[in-house]
Amino acid sequence: MKTFLTIVAATAFSLQAFAADATKIASMQMAEVISLGLDRAKEQSILMAEALKDKPGRLPKSTDKEGKLSTSDSRWWCSGFFPGVLWYVYEGTNEPELKEWARMYTARIEREKYTTNNHDVGFMLYCSFGNGLRLGGYDAYKEVLLTGTESLSTRYKDNVGAIRSWDWNQKVWQYPVIIDNMMNLELMMWAAKESGNKRFAEMAKSHADKTMKNHFRNDYSCYHVVSYDTITGKPHKKQTWQGFADESAWARGQAWALYGYMMMYRETGEKRYLNHAKKIAEYIMNHPNLPEDKIPYWDFNAPEIPNEERDASAGALIASALIELSQYTKGDFSKQCLDVAETQVRALTSDAYLAEEGTNANFILKHSVGAKPLKSEVNVPLTYADYYYVEALIRYKNLLEQ
Ligand code: GLY
Repeated sequence: MKTFLTIVAATAFSLQAFAADATKIASMQMAEVISLGLDRAKEQSILMAEALKDKPGRLPKSTDKEGKLSTSDSRWWCSGFFPGVLWYVYEGTNEPELKEWARMYTARIEREKYTTNNHDVGFMLYCSFGNGLRLGGYDAYKEVLLTGTESLSTRYKDNVGAIRSWDWNQKVWQYPVIIDNMMNLELMMWAAKESGNKRFAEMAKSHADKTMKNHFRNDYSCYHVVSYDTITGKPHKKQTWQGFADESAWARGQAWALYGYMMMYRETGEKRYLNHAKKIAEYIMNHPNLPEDKIPYWDFNAPEIPNEERDASAGALIASALIELSQYTKGDFSKQCLDVAETQVRALTSDAYLAEEGTNANFILKHSVGAKPLKSEVNVPLTYADYYYVEALIRYKNLLEQ
Protein backbone atom coordinates (compact mmCIF):
# COMPACT_ATOMS: atom_id res chain seq x y z
CA MET A 1 0.00 0.00 0.00
CA LYS A 2 2.72 2.42 1.06
CA THR A 3 4.77 1.73 -2.05
CA PHE A 4 1.75 2.35 -4.28
CA LEU A 5 0.90 5.67 -2.63
CA THR A 6 4.51 6.83 -2.63
CA ILE A 7 4.91 6.13 -6.33
CA VAL A 8 1.61 7.81 -7.14
CA ALA A 9 2.40 10.89 -5.04
CA ALA A 10 5.89 11.21 -6.47
CA THR A 11 4.68 11.02 -10.03
CA ALA A 12 1.40 12.90 -9.81
CA PHE A 13 2.91 16.09 -11.17
CA SER A 14 4.91 14.53 -13.98
CA LEU A 15 1.90 12.50 -15.12
CA GLN A 16 0.01 15.65 -15.97
CA ALA A 17 2.64 16.43 -18.57
CA PHE A 18 3.07 12.85 -19.76
CA ALA A 19 1.90 12.16 -23.28
CA ALA A 20 0.53 8.65 -22.96
CA ASP A 21 2.24 7.12 -25.97
CA ALA A 22 2.97 3.43 -25.92
CA THR A 23 6.74 3.77 -25.48
CA LYS A 24 6.39 5.99 -22.44
CA ILE A 25 3.62 3.83 -21.02
CA ALA A 26 5.87 0.79 -21.37
CA SER A 27 8.53 2.42 -19.18
CA MET A 28 6.13 3.51 -16.44
CA GLN A 29 5.45 1.60 -13.23
CA MET A 30 2.01 -0.05 -13.19
CA ALA A 31 0.96 2.22 -10.31
CA GLU A 32 1.61 5.23 -12.54
CA VAL A 33 -0.25 3.65 -15.46
CA ILE A 34 -3.25 2.98 -13.24
CA SER A 35 -3.16 6.48 -11.83
CA LEU A 36 -3.06 7.94 -15.33
CA GLY A 37 -5.97 5.74 -16.47
CA LEU A 38 -8.08 6.56 -13.44
CA ASP A 39 -7.44 10.29 -13.80
CA ARG A 40 -8.59 10.20 -17.41
CA ALA A 41 -11.57 8.03 -16.49
CA LYS A 42 -12.57 10.57 -13.87
CA GLU A 43 -12.26 13.54 -16.24
CA GLN A 44 -14.21 11.85 -19.01
CA SER A 45 -16.91 10.45 -16.72
CA ILE A 46 -17.60 13.81 -15.13
CA LEU A 47 -17.83 15.43 -18.56
CA MET A 48 -20.20 12.66 -19.69
CA ALA A 49 -22.32 12.98 -16.53
CA GLU A 50 -22.59 16.75 -16.99
CA ALA A 51 -23.47 16.38 -20.68
CA LEU A 52 -26.49 14.17 -19.92
CA LYS A 53 -27.65 15.56 -16.60
CA ASP A 54 -30.56 17.51 -18.10
CA LYS A 55 -31.63 14.69 -20.43
CA PRO A 56 -33.87 12.63 -18.17
CA GLY A 57 -33.50 8.90 -18.49
CA ARG A 58 -30.74 9.06 -21.13
CA LEU A 59 -27.56 7.00 -20.85
CA PRO A 60 -24.42 6.90 -23.02
CA LYS A 61 -24.24 4.25 -25.70
CA SER A 62 -21.63 5.05 -28.39
CA THR A 63 -21.03 7.62 -31.15
CA ASP A 64 -22.95 8.24 -34.36
CA LYS A 65 -21.56 8.60 -37.90
CA GLU A 66 -20.46 12.17 -37.16
CA GLY A 67 -18.64 11.07 -34.03
CA LYS A 68 -21.28 12.65 -31.77
CA LEU A 69 -22.57 11.00 -28.60
CA SER A 70 -25.40 8.54 -29.12
CA THR A 71 -27.55 7.66 -26.12
CA SER A 72 -30.23 5.16 -25.15
CA ASP A 73 -32.89 4.85 -22.51
CA SER A 74 -32.62 2.18 -19.83
CA ARG A 75 -34.03 -0.53 -22.13
CA TRP A 76 -30.79 -0.91 -24.13
CA TRP A 77 -28.67 -3.77 -22.79
CA CYS A 78 -25.79 -1.40 -22.01
CA SER A 79 -27.71 1.04 -19.83
CA GLY A 80 -26.07 -0.06 -16.57
CA PHE A 81 -22.47 0.33 -17.67
CA PHE A 82 -22.11 4.10 -17.34
CA PRO A 83 -23.50 4.13 -13.78
CA GLY A 84 -21.05 1.27 -13.14
CA VAL A 85 -18.14 3.32 -14.52
CA LEU A 86 -19.10 6.13 -12.14
CA TRP A 87 -19.15 3.73 -9.18
CA TYR A 88 -15.75 2.29 -10.11
CA VAL A 89 -14.22 5.73 -10.59
CA TYR A 90 -15.64 6.67 -7.21
CA GLU A 91 -14.02 3.55 -5.76
CA GLY A 92 -10.70 4.42 -7.38
CA THR A 93 -10.65 8.10 -6.43
CA ASN A 94 -12.90 8.33 -3.36
CA GLU A 95 -14.29 11.61 -4.62
CA PRO A 96 -17.80 12.36 -3.28
CA GLU A 97 -18.79 14.07 -6.56
CA LEU A 98 -18.48 10.75 -8.34
CA LYS A 99 -20.73 9.07 -5.81
CA GLU A 100 -23.43 11.66 -6.37
CA TRP A 101 -23.26 11.22 -10.14
CA ALA A 102 -23.26 7.44 -9.70
CA ARG A 103 -26.44 7.57 -7.58
CA MET A 104 -28.15 9.83 -10.07
CA TYR A 105 -27.40 7.68 -13.12
CA THR A 106 -28.08 4.43 -11.25
CA ALA A 107 -31.60 5.65 -10.51
CA ARG A 108 -32.21 5.90 -14.27
CA ILE A 109 -32.03 2.09 -14.55
CA GLU A 110 -34.45 1.12 -11.79
CA ARG A 111 -37.43 0.20 -13.95
CA GLU A 112 -35.36 -2.59 -15.52
CA LYS A 113 -35.96 -4.66 -12.40
CA TYR A 114 -39.26 -5.66 -14.04
CA THR A 115 -37.68 -6.66 -17.37
CA THR A 116 -38.63 -10.18 -18.41
CA ASN A 117 -38.32 -10.01 -22.19
CA ASN A 118 -34.52 -10.46 -22.41
CA HIS A 119 -31.60 -11.72 -20.36
CA ASP A 120 -29.72 -8.43 -20.07
CA VAL A 121 -31.21 -7.51 -16.73
CA GLY A 122 -28.08 -8.92 -15.06
CA PHE A 123 -25.78 -6.57 -16.97
CA MET A 124 -28.09 -3.62 -16.43
CA LEU A 125 -28.65 -4.02 -12.72
CA TYR A 126 -25.53 -5.69 -11.36
CA CYS A 127 -23.10 -3.20 -12.93
CA SER A 128 -25.13 -0.25 -11.61
CA PHE A 129 -27.07 -1.19 -8.47
CA GLY A 130 -24.70 -4.07 -7.65
CA ASN A 131 -21.65 -1.83 -7.52
CA GLY A 132 -23.69 0.84 -5.77
CA LEU A 133 -24.69 -1.61 -3.05
CA ARG A 134 -21.09 -2.72 -2.63
CA LEU A 135 -19.76 0.83 -2.43
CA GLY A 136 -22.59 2.95 -1.18
CA GLY A 137 -24.34 0.59 1.15
CA TYR A 138 -27.82 1.70 0.11
CA ASP A 139 -30.21 -0.89 1.44
CA ALA A 140 -32.93 0.09 -1.03
CA TYR A 141 -30.68 -1.19 -3.83
CA LYS A 142 -31.15 -4.74 -2.53
CA GLU A 143 -34.83 -4.73 -3.39
CA VAL A 144 -34.05 -3.61 -6.94
CA LEU A 145 -31.47 -6.38 -7.37
CA LEU A 146 -33.72 -9.08 -5.89
CA THR A 147 -36.74 -8.03 -7.96
CA GLY A 148 -34.48 -8.02 -11.02
CA THR A 149 -33.31 -11.54 -10.23
CA GLU A 150 -36.92 -12.74 -9.99
CA SER A 151 -37.52 -11.19 -13.41
CA LEU A 152 -34.44 -12.83 -14.89
CA SER A 153 -35.34 -16.20 -13.41
CA THR A 154 -38.62 -16.23 -15.34
CA ARG A 155 -36.47 -16.85 -18.41
CA TYR A 156 -35.17 -20.18 -17.09
CA LYS A 157 -36.80 -23.34 -18.44
CA ASP A 158 -36.25 -26.61 -16.58
CA ASN A 159 -36.08 -28.95 -19.55
CA VAL A 160 -33.40 -26.82 -21.20
CA GLY A 161 -31.64 -26.00 -17.93
CA ALA A 162 -30.58 -22.56 -19.12
CA ILE A 163 -31.79 -18.97 -19.20
CA ARG A 164 -33.19 -17.90 -22.56
CA SER A 165 -31.31 -14.92 -24.00
CA TRP A 166 -33.46 -13.51 -26.79
CA ASP A 167 -37.09 -13.72 -27.88
CA TRP A 168 -36.69 -12.46 -31.45
CA ASN A 169 -35.86 -14.42 -34.65
CA GLN A 170 -38.17 -17.22 -33.53
CA LYS A 171 -38.39 -18.70 -37.01
CA VAL A 172 -34.70 -19.63 -36.74
CA TRP A 173 -34.05 -20.05 -33.03
CA GLN A 174 -36.42 -21.90 -30.72
CA TYR A 175 -34.57 -21.07 -27.50
CA PRO A 176 -31.41 -19.01 -28.12
CA VAL A 177 -28.73 -18.85 -25.45
CA ILE A 178 -25.78 -16.60 -26.19
CA ILE A 179 -22.38 -16.88 -24.54
CA ASP A 180 -22.78 -13.31 -23.20
CA ASN A 181 -25.46 -14.69 -20.90
CA MET A 182 -22.78 -16.17 -18.62
CA MET A 183 -22.31 -12.65 -17.27
CA ASN A 184 -25.88 -12.45 -15.96
CA LEU A 185 -25.20 -15.34 -13.59
CA GLU A 186 -23.31 -13.04 -11.22
CA LEU A 187 -26.58 -11.34 -10.27
CA MET A 188 -28.21 -14.73 -9.65
CA MET A 189 -25.33 -15.92 -7.48
CA TRP A 190 -25.48 -12.70 -5.45
CA ALA A 191 -29.26 -13.05 -5.03
CA ALA A 192 -28.96 -16.68 -3.89
CA LYS A 193 -26.61 -15.62 -1.10
CA GLU A 194 -28.58 -12.51 -0.18
CA SER A 195 -32.03 -14.09 -0.14
CA GLY A 196 -31.14 -17.66 0.83
CA ASN A 197 -33.11 -18.84 -2.21
CA LYS A 198 -30.90 -21.69 -3.43
CA ARG A 199 -32.93 -22.00 -6.60
CA PHE A 200 -31.16 -18.95 -8.06
CA ALA A 201 -27.76 -20.62 -7.57
CA GLU A 202 -29.08 -23.90 -9.00
CA MET A 203 -30.30 -22.10 -12.11
CA ALA A 204 -26.99 -20.28 -12.50
CA LYS A 205 -24.97 -23.50 -12.14
CA SER A 206 -27.21 -25.41 -14.50
CA HIS A 207 -26.88 -22.61 -17.06
CA ALA A 208 -23.08 -22.61 -16.71
CA ASP A 209 -22.95 -26.43 -17.03
CA LYS A 210 -25.21 -26.56 -20.10
CA THR A 211 -23.19 -23.78 -21.72
CA MET A 212 -19.95 -25.60 -20.93
CA LYS A 213 -21.34 -28.70 -22.60
CA ASN A 214 -22.88 -27.14 -25.67
CA HIS A 215 -21.18 -23.86 -26.52
CA PHE A 216 -17.55 -25.00 -26.67
CA ARG A 217 -15.47 -26.61 -29.38
CA ASN A 218 -12.58 -28.99 -28.77
CA ASP A 219 -10.10 -26.10 -28.71
CA TYR A 220 -12.18 -24.28 -26.03
CA SER A 221 -13.27 -21.52 -28.37
CA CYS A 222 -17.00 -21.01 -28.31
CA TYR A 223 -20.04 -20.38 -30.45
CA HIS A 224 -21.95 -17.17 -29.98
CA VAL A 225 -25.50 -18.54 -30.18
CA VAL A 226 -26.69 -22.03 -29.25
CA SER A 227 -30.39 -22.54 -29.76
CA TYR A 228 -32.12 -25.36 -27.90
CA ASP A 229 -35.08 -27.42 -29.02
CA THR A 230 -37.83 -26.50 -26.56
CA ILE A 231 -39.21 -30.07 -26.46
CA THR A 232 -36.06 -32.18 -26.26
CA GLY A 233 -33.95 -29.54 -24.49
CA LYS A 234 -31.08 -30.38 -26.87
CA PRO A 235 -29.21 -27.89 -29.11
CA HIS A 236 -30.68 -27.64 -32.62
CA LYS A 237 -28.48 -24.80 -33.97
CA LYS A 238 -25.01 -23.41 -33.27
CA GLN A 239 -24.35 -20.07 -34.94
CA THR A 240 -22.97 -16.60 -34.69
CA TRP A 241 -24.71 -13.25 -34.66
CA GLN A 242 -21.92 -10.75 -34.11
CA GLY A 243 -18.92 -12.83 -35.16
CA PHE A 244 -17.39 -13.37 -38.60
CA ALA A 245 -18.78 -16.89 -39.13
CA ASP A 246 -20.62 -19.63 -37.28
CA GLU A 247 -17.34 -21.50 -36.79
CA SER A 248 -15.18 -18.48 -35.98
CA ALA A 249 -14.15 -17.17 -32.54
CA TRP A 250 -15.82 -13.81 -32.04
CA ALA A 251 -13.44 -11.96 -29.72
CA ARG A 252 -15.92 -10.55 -27.25
CA GLY A 253 -17.67 -13.88 -27.07
CA GLN A 254 -14.43 -15.54 -25.96
CA ALA A 255 -14.04 -12.73 -23.43
CA TRP A 256 -17.55 -13.20 -22.00
CA ALA A 257 -16.80 -16.92 -21.70
CA LEU A 258 -13.50 -16.40 -19.88
CA TYR A 259 -14.96 -13.86 -17.50
CA GLY A 260 -18.12 -15.91 -16.94
CA TYR A 261 -16.36 -19.11 -15.86
CA MET A 262 -13.77 -17.25 -13.80
CA MET A 263 -16.65 -15.51 -12.00
CA MET A 264 -18.57 -18.78 -11.51
CA TYR A 265 -15.48 -20.27 -9.87
CA ARG A 266 -15.26 -17.27 -7.54
CA GLU A 267 -18.95 -17.56 -6.67
CA THR A 268 -19.17 -21.35 -6.22
CA GLY A 269 -15.63 -22.55 -5.49
CA GLU A 270 -16.29 -25.40 -7.96
CA LYS A 271 -13.12 -26.51 -9.71
CA ARG A 272 -14.77 -27.41 -13.02
CA TYR A 273 -15.41 -23.73 -13.61
CA LEU A 274 -11.81 -22.81 -12.80
CA ASN A 275 -10.50 -25.52 -15.12
CA HIS A 276 -12.76 -24.31 -17.88
CA ALA A 277 -11.73 -20.67 -17.40
CA LYS A 278 -8.08 -21.75 -17.59
CA LYS A 279 -8.64 -23.56 -20.89
CA ILE A 280 -10.41 -20.53 -22.38
CA ALA A 281 -7.61 -18.29 -21.13
CA GLU A 282 -5.03 -20.57 -22.80
CA TYR A 283 -6.96 -20.41 -26.06
CA ILE A 284 -6.99 -16.60 -25.96
CA MET A 285 -3.48 -15.96 -24.63
CA ASN A 286 -1.76 -18.41 -27.00
CA HIS A 287 -3.77 -17.57 -30.09
CA PRO A 288 -1.50 -16.82 -33.09
CA ASN A 289 -3.80 -13.95 -34.10
CA LEU A 290 -3.57 -12.17 -30.76
CA PRO A 291 -1.50 -9.05 -31.55
CA GLU A 292 1.57 -7.94 -29.63
CA ASP A 293 -0.36 -5.42 -27.54
CA LYS A 294 -2.83 -8.25 -26.71
CA ILE A 295 -5.90 -6.25 -27.77
CA PRO A 296 -7.70 -8.72 -30.05
CA TYR A 297 -9.07 -8.15 -33.49
CA TRP A 298 -12.88 -8.15 -33.33
CA ASP A 299 -12.86 -11.83 -34.32
CA PHE A 300 -9.88 -14.17 -33.89
CA ASN A 301 -10.65 -15.50 -37.38
CA ALA A 302 -11.54 -12.22 -39.09
CA PRO A 303 -10.64 -12.72 -42.75
CA GLU A 304 -8.39 -9.69 -43.37
CA ILE A 305 -6.19 -9.85 -40.27
CA PRO A 306 -4.00 -7.78 -39.77
CA ASN A 307 -6.20 -5.29 -41.63
CA GLU A 308 -9.15 -5.67 -39.30
CA GLU A 309 -10.43 -3.53 -36.46
CA ARG A 310 -9.35 -4.19 -32.91
CA ASP A 311 -11.96 -4.53 -30.20
CA ALA A 312 -10.92 -2.60 -27.09
CA SER A 313 -14.02 -3.88 -25.28
CA ALA A 314 -12.79 -7.47 -25.62
CA GLY A 315 -9.30 -6.39 -24.55
CA ALA A 316 -10.63 -4.68 -21.43
CA LEU A 317 -12.87 -7.61 -20.51
CA ILE A 318 -10.06 -10.13 -20.94
CA ALA A 319 -7.69 -7.96 -18.89
CA SER A 320 -10.16 -7.68 -16.03
CA ALA A 321 -10.85 -11.43 -16.05
CA LEU A 322 -7.16 -12.40 -16.29
CA ILE A 323 -6.17 -10.18 -13.37
CA GLU A 324 -8.65 -12.04 -11.19
CA LEU A 325 -7.82 -15.45 -12.69
CA SER A 326 -4.14 -14.87 -11.90
CA GLN A 327 -5.12 -14.84 -8.24
CA TYR A 328 -6.87 -18.22 -8.41
CA THR A 329 -3.97 -19.96 -10.14
CA LYS A 330 -0.30 -20.55 -9.51
CA GLY A 331 3.12 -20.63 -11.14
CA ASP A 332 3.76 -19.93 -14.81
CA PHE A 333 0.08 -19.90 -15.70
CA SER A 334 -0.75 -17.27 -13.10
CA LYS A 335 2.21 -15.19 -14.25
CA GLN A 336 1.16 -15.46 -17.89
CA CYS A 337 -2.35 -14.25 -16.99
CA LEU A 338 -1.00 -11.23 -15.17
CA ASP A 339 1.59 -10.46 -17.85
CA VAL A 340 -1.03 -10.50 -20.60
CA ALA A 341 -3.40 -8.37 -18.51
CA GLU A 342 -0.60 -5.91 -17.78
CA THR A 343 0.20 -5.61 -21.49
CA GLN A 344 -3.48 -4.98 -22.20
CA VAL A 345 -3.86 -2.37 -19.48
CA ARG A 346 -0.73 -0.58 -20.69
CA ALA A 347 -1.99 -0.66 -24.29
CA LEU A 348 -5.44 0.63 -23.35
CA THR A 349 -3.85 3.43 -21.31
CA SER A 350 -1.69 4.55 -24.24
CA ASP A 351 -2.92 7.16 -26.66
CA ALA A 352 -3.65 4.40 -29.17
CA TYR A 353 -6.83 3.63 -27.18
CA LEU A 354 -7.22 6.16 -24.33
CA ALA A 355 -9.08 9.29 -25.35
CA GLU A 356 -7.68 12.75 -24.72
CA GLU A 357 -9.71 14.72 -22.20
CA GLY A 358 -12.86 16.20 -23.77
CA THR A 359 -12.59 14.13 -26.97
CA ASN A 360 -14.23 10.84 -28.05
CA ALA A 361 -17.69 12.15 -27.05
CA ASN A 362 -16.42 11.85 -23.46
CA PHE A 363 -15.98 8.08 -23.56
CA ILE A 364 -12.77 6.79 -22.02
CA LEU A 365 -11.62 4.31 -24.68
CA LYS A 366 -11.56 4.46 -28.46
CA HIS A 367 -11.68 1.56 -30.95
CA SER A 368 -14.28 -1.03 -30.06
CA VAL A 369 -16.50 -3.10 -32.31
CA GLY A 370 -20.14 -3.82 -31.52
CA ALA A 371 -21.34 -5.93 -34.46
CA LYS A 372 -19.28 -5.73 -37.64
CA PRO A 373 -21.37 -8.20 -39.71
CA LEU A 374 -24.37 -5.98 -39.04
CA LYS A 375 -22.28 -2.90 -39.95
CA SER A 376 -23.11 -1.54 -36.53
CA GLU A 377 -20.73 0.15 -34.08
CA VAL A 378 -17.49 -0.54 -35.91
CA ASN A 379 -14.37 1.17 -34.51
CA VAL A 380 -16.24 3.33 -32.04
CA PRO A 381 -16.27 3.94 -28.29
CA LEU A 382 -18.60 1.63 -26.37
CA THR A 383 -19.77 2.11 -22.82
CA TYR A 384 -18.91 -1.46 -21.79
CA ALA A 385 -15.32 -1.09 -22.99
CA ASP A 386 -15.03 1.79 -20.52
CA TYR A 387 -16.66 -0.25 -17.75
CA TYR A 388 -14.34 -3.25 -17.98
CA TYR A 389 -11.29 -1.02 -18.48
CA VAL A 390 -11.97 0.86 -15.25
CA GLU A 391 -12.76 -2.44 -13.51
CA ALA A 392 -9.38 -3.79 -14.68
CA LEU A 393 -7.65 -0.67 -13.34
CA ILE A 394 -9.32 -1.12 -9.95
CA ARG A 395 -8.47 -4.83 -9.86
CA TYR A 396 -4.83 -4.17 -10.68
CA LYS A 397 -4.70 -1.33 -8.14
CA ASN A 398 -6.08 -3.65 -5.49
CA LEU A 399 -3.36 -6.19 -6.30
CA LEU A 400 -0.64 -3.58 -5.89
CA GLU A 401 -2.09 -2.48 -2.58
CA GLN A 402 -2.26 -6.01 -1.11
N1 GLY B 1 -24.03 -8.71 -25.33
C1 GLY B 1 -23.86 -8.18 -26.62
C2 GLY B 1 -22.46 -7.92 -27.04
O1 GLY B 1 -21.50 -8.39 -26.46
O2 GLY B 1 -22.30 -7.21 -28.01
